[in-house]
Amino acid sequence: MAENEAGSAIRLWGGRFESGPAEALARLSVSVQFDWRLAPYDLLASAAHARVLHKAGLLNDMEVARLLAAIDDLGQACRSGGFRPTAGDEDVHTALERGLLERAGSLGGKLRAGRSRNDQIATDLRLYLRGHARLIILRLAELETALTGQAERHLTTPVPGLTHLQHAQPVLFAHQLLAHVQAFARDVGRLRDWDKRAAVSPLGAGALAGSSLPLEPETVAAELGFDSAAPNSMDAVSDRDFAAEFCFTAALLGVHLSRLGEEVVLWSSHEFGWAEIDDAYATGSSIMPQKKNPDVAELARGKAGRLIGGLTGLLTTLKGLPLTYNRDLQEDKEPVFDAVDTLLLVLPAMAGLISTIRFNSERMARSAAAGYSLATDLAELLVRRGVPFREAHEVVGHLVVWCQVHERELDEVSDEDLARVSPHLTPDVREVLTVQGALAARNTFGGTSPARVAEQLAAVRAAVDEHAAWAAD
Ligand code: ARG
Repeated sequence: MAENEAGSAIRLWGGRFESGPAEALARLSVSVQFDWRLAPYDLLASAAHARVLHKAGLLNDMEVARLLAAIDDLGQACRSGGFRPTAGDEDVHTALERGLLERAGSLGGKLRAGRSRNDQIATDLRLYLRGHARLIILRLAELETALTGQAERHLTTPVPGLTHLQHAQPVLFAHQLLAHVQAFARDVGRLRDWDKRAAVSPLGAGALAGSSLPLEPETVAAELGFDSAAPNSMDAVSDRDFAAEFCFTAALLGVHLSRLGEEVVLWSSHEFGWAEIDDAYATGSSIMPQKKNPDVAELARGKAGRLIGGLTGLLTTLKGLPLTYNRDLQEDKEPVFDAVDTLLLVLPAMAGLISTIRFNSERMARSAAAGYSLATDLAELLVRRGVPFREAHEVVGHLVVWCQVHERELDEVSDEDLARVSPHLTPDVREVLTVQGALAARNTFGGTSPARVAEQLAAVRAAVDEHAAWAAD
């Protein structure tokens, strides 16, 4: 029997072994320093397992009551910090078994029947991630709300829309902000789709083959909030798709955060001059007194790297593993925990940054028409008058070159000079050379016209409310 004194290891396989583990093995093996956060979920699963053992007649009424009370007491001690893993505990399961034996004596050992750390750890990690996916969605909804709030404030602010970081066509700034919300809304959708596939309970698979005891995996699954029990016990203990898919979803969300972060860095630069970050979300320089740095946005951009690294590391761990459980699988935890921690750090900071940042609407509006961004409107006017687009493109291209040489904007060319560039350029073409006109004209579904953007904002607001409600449920 394994020893049970503080500091000395509880070994779950003591009976078969003559010597204890080598120090180097014990140090390599130990995971309690990072898997201890699974303790509440392990205890939930233990309580469900105790009830099923009772139903199966393997625990009598008194025994199950004592065990459930011990589990409850242990849970409270974990929460208060009264029970902590010691140097001798290998992982969350061994630590909690020690706690249970301390409280229920040898009765605690009955809970081991019909289950293995293999189905336990897979269950714990699913429970943990399903709960934390909801927290992430709540924080994401706050960022979405910050972005839609700014979009509402900038429903009439034109900016130059960029491709290749060059002025392309004017857009409403609300449209640009809502483009980011669309990406985050897809992230929420991915997490919710993921949750359906993650809602399968491995408990009952035992080590890999199921159990000869009359357990009820479906009952345990329902009690733990899963939709179903795993239909294949070998898959149940070896599958880590839910962890890899979670890491992918987190990595892509990280990529979206990094793209928004990069835009904030640009907007707040002197060269753009579109935005001023609130003091609460900016940092200064130890040497340059004038500096106000966009560190939140930069850290959001930088953290995408570790999220992507976690995903590639986990996929590499899983690649080529034979069925079923292999100890390599212990390496699944740190990447997913780091993804959760990273997102729960970055999301509130980005929500705060976005909700407090101040935009310089006048300056943005002024630059909306700069860089000949109304050239397409002119070409499309000629198209409406029957000129083939190929020719219209050429004509307006010549006009842009003329303007560059003479340092004029498109609407500053005289009637004679217009006619000199092309007979198609009659004086009335100037009517399309206004930013407001260009915006209003882009009224196709999904376009940047004020009417379309208002429509989009209403739909996005409803979606964000729904995201938050789903996650809070
Ligand atoms: N700490 C282990 C892990 O995280 C728990 C499962 C151990 N199972 C085993 N057969 N050694 O994967």
